[in-house]
Amino acid sequence: MKILTIMGSERKNKNTAKLLNFFNKRFIKAEDEVYEYILKDLKFSACISCYGCAKKPACIINDDLQDLYKLIEEVDAIVFSTPIYFNSVPAISKSFIDRMQVYWCRKFILKLPPIKEKIGIALINGGAPYYEEQFIGPELVFDHFFKSTTCKRRIFLELSNTDSIKIDEDNKELVSFLNNIDYSFKENKTYKL
Ligand SMILES: Cc1cc2nc3c(=O)[nH]c(=O)nc-3n(C[C@H](O)[C@H](O)[C@H](O)COP(=O)(O)O)c2cc1C
Repeated sequence: MKILTIMGSERKNKNTAKLLNFFNKRFIKAEDEVYEYILKDLKFSACISCYGCAKKPACIINDDLQDLYKLIEEVDAIVFSTPIYFNSVPAISKSFIDRMQVYWCRKFILKLPPIKEKIGIALINGGAPYYEEQFIGPELVFDHFFKSTTCKRRIFLELSNTDSIKIDEDNKELVSFLNNIDYSFKENKTYKL
């Protein structure tokens, strides 16, 4: 499989990055072709609402996301790891997701054939202990992201309390949670810890 992984936290090597690494260790196989991106390392603009993509199926902004667009059209799976900020995703992840407007327009305005069908995997972690609305905002954002990028199968991994729990291989609860996931991802599913 061709897999694109995206780390969408402002902080490198913290909860969001660690969770992505632990997930990838279990999901990615030796034969997979993997493309790993850290949004913080990329230079890219927010969507400027020029609606160029409503006329032609491309984004006119010539920045680091052009490479990502190519990959999004080729890969079999996207793994996107993000923290929760103010009940949504942080600005850096949201800016990236807003740039997927090019696929929204392609599908709903230009009505072109969809890009390659793939699996979308959202790893979402919130620092607070679980509360009822914690994942609603990010789930809605990812629903739109997955729809636009033709992620037909959708997997959500939702972790609460990450400001208190340790994201490491010594955390038995986390390890058992990750080990009990069916990584074949044959059906839409939400896993919560
Ligand atoms: C500006 C800001 C807003 C946050 N808002 C929420 C929130 O609404 N709900 C929540 O559960 N955690 C919230 N958190 C906590 C983060 O989700 C948590 O610390 C996360 O693990 C950070 O990921 P990182 O280690 O990759 O930076 C917030 C943190 C920051 C800095």
